[in-house]
Amino acid sequence: MTIMSNSQQSKHVAVFAFPFGSHLMPLLNLVLKLAHAAPNCSFSFIGTDKSNAILFPKPYIPKNIKAYNISDGVPEGHVMSSNPIEKLNLFLSTGPENLQKGIELAVAETKQRVTCIIADAFVTDSLIVAKALNVPWIPLWLPMSCSLSCHFYTNLIREQYANNAGNRNLDFLTGLPKLCVEDLPQVVAKGGEHETPFSKTMASLGTVLPQAKAVVINFFEELDPPLYVQHLRSILQSLLYVVPLPFPLLLPSDTDKNGCFSWLNRHNAKTVAYVSFGTVATPPPHEIVAVAEALEESGFPFLWSLKDNLKGLLPSGFLQRTGMLGKVVPWVPQSQVLAHDSVGVFVTHCGSNSVTESICNGVPMICRPFFGDQGISARVIQNVWENGVIIEGRVLSKNGLLQSLNLILVQEEGKKIRENALNMKKTVQDAARPEGKSAQDFKTLVEIISES
Ligand SMILES: *[C@@H]1O[C@H](CO)[C@@H](O)[C@H](O)[C@H]1NC(C)=O
Ligand SMILES: *[C@@H]1O[C@H](CO)[C@@H](O)[C@H](O)[C@H]1NC(C)=O
Repeated sequence: MTIMSNSQQSKHVAVFAFPFGSHLMPLLNLVLKLAHAAPNCSFSFIGTDKSNAILFPKPYIPKNIKAYNISDGVPEGHVMSSNPIEKLNLFLSTGPENLQKGIELAVAETKQRVTCIIADAFVTDSLIVAKALNVPWIPLWLPMSCSLSCHFYTNLIREQYANNAGNRNLDFLTGLPKLCVEDLPQVVAKGGEHETPFSKTMASLGTVLPQAKAVVINFFEELDPPLYVQHLRSILQSLLYVVPLPFPLLLPSDTDKNGCFSWLNRHNAKTVAYVSFGTVATPPPHEIVAVAEALEESGFPFLWSLKDNLKGLLPSGFLQRTGMLGKVVPWVPQSQVLAHDSVGVFVTHCGSNSVTESICNGVPMICRPFFGDQGISARVIQNVWENGVIIEGRVLSKNGLLQSLNLILVQEEGKKIRENALNMKKTVQDAARPEGKSAQDFKTLVEIISES
């Protein structure tokens, strides 16, 4: 017993963040859960100054999680272009040497050698570090689960895309016959002269991930097409699904500085349209106008999370005219808003965190995907789960949005969509039970880190 606890005590997991946006919270959330389940393991969370400043220090961070800073790869005095991918490319170009520096900081402070590496799957160079240390490598896949498939077949897809513009279906992706070329992340569809450190990283996943001791997916196995899951299992050494939500420690439920709940409380069940396109994507001005016009004409109550700097794009007089109908605020506590009984539909960019929150709360979606995995999420929502629709033409227009709002909020034809959304909520509630499969997968993950 003594030997056991001694050996347990020396477990030291290095965690590599992909230090941007929506990737941070879900990774920290997993590490928090692990740190509670394995209190004798130490976790060194390696990010950049900027990303660590967002996550640390916080009162809910236990003693066995410590943060370490590495370079973000931005040269001193460098002026960033408007290309949002640039910072990703700069960070990914820092290579394994930069990651290794994080390990050195953590080892110097803890005086414990690293026994396991958990990494955001986008930080593929952490595999090189794990190999050098001869420790297990466990990547976490945070985008929409189904989107992983297309990164395994980047070359094949690019050939198909180039050679066969007529056949827009990607029917060779096992278990995902509904996916189309237009759904693909740009990094997959575009090779050749468009290649960047980011697209190369993503294209390498097919060779890199099979070397992982286990690949962890931040989703519900029960919602992925069974053939797709089976196919992934045939490629990977081990595949573990961990329940992605909620983030109870990260969202103080009393944060309602914009008064959303007193407003939502005044509305009947399933009548409100909640609109948000996340923190990264910004719809072009004409689409913001289209949303405003559709909401005003529809007459449905709406809650719109719209950054203050975009309010100037709203049609003149819109806020005054719709003051009784709707509420426009710069920020909402989204998962609690989606959990509110009055919300009947979510007009979304389909970021994976948003999609998951919507599913968990049984809210049907109207999808306007922008980039990355969002197109695949939208396709799966419309054509596989059938708990929502893609906006006509994939661009927000007044008529397109009016049509979709009517379909989902009132029309008889939308009944199946509403029911599917509710059924999915039940499925994920079942999946998250303590005796469910994902609890077993989490236990397996704890065993891997405590035994290696
Ligand atoms: C953690 O270590 C302490 C002291 O070494 C030991 O008493 C305890 O049982 C260990 N806890 C777990 C969960 O292994
Ligand atoms: C790491 O970055 C955070 C956030 O910027 C900062 O507060 C902290 O002092 C840095 N740590 C070290 C050791 O430089």
